[in-house]
Amino acid sequence: MRKGYFITFEGAEGSGKSTQIRNAAAFLKKKGRRVLMLREPGGTRISEAIRAVLLDKHLNEMTAVTELLLYLAARAQIVREKILPALKKGKVVICDRFEDSTRAYQGFGRGLSLKAIEQANELVRGSLRPDLTFVLDIDSAKGLKRGGRHDRIEREALSFHRRVRQGFLAIAKRNPKRMVVLDTSRPVDKVRQKVRERLERVFGK
Ligand code: TMP
Repeated sequence: MRKGYFITFEGAEGSGKSTQIRNAAAFLKKKGRRVLMLREPGGTRISEAIRAVLLDKHLNEMTAVTELLLYLAARAQIVREKILPALKKGKVVICDRFEDSTRAYQGFGRGLSLKAIEQANELVRGSLRPDLTFVLDIDSAKGLKRGGRHDRIEREALSFHRRVRQGFLAIAKRNPKRMVVLDTSRPVDKVRQKVRERLERVFGK
């Protein structure tokens, strides 16, 4: 039985996730919650090593299936080493990206089978599901401009990033209870307010 609460932030490059994650964490800490902030891929020694391979801009011969399996391997490690133990202790875990990124990038972006991804996800995270997911939506060209095009994924074509964005929106439509889409063309304070309102619904005013 787990007592904690699992929140994920998703969205394209340059959507301002890190700012909103910091705000959310500060808000929850003020309420006296113990918060653990993590990022994916990463968050453990093994997952950070896998991240370096995944994002290395020189490794552009990587196949889509290799990419998928590496993201999943990084996740299998962080789930067991960090996320589940923290939830068991009653912490709020906030993760910068989780499995919706795999659906959006490797499914919608790379065109791998969503059904196969679901089956693999099942193996990787068992019964663990995010309780709440914020999707920061941004125009793809704008996001890339803001985020830069440094790593292997960011260097993908604009059309790839557009498919990813549509992917996130489609996934959110299918999961309206768990997922909240935030329009980041609005001022950053308005976005923060939306996040707060939603957190207050769960954790109280
Ligand atoms: P970021 O943490 O700087 O956003 O970099 C992670 C990159 O990896 C980002 O481009 C999104 C991508 N990604 C996937 O393609 N699939 C995944 O499952 C995850 C977690 C991230």
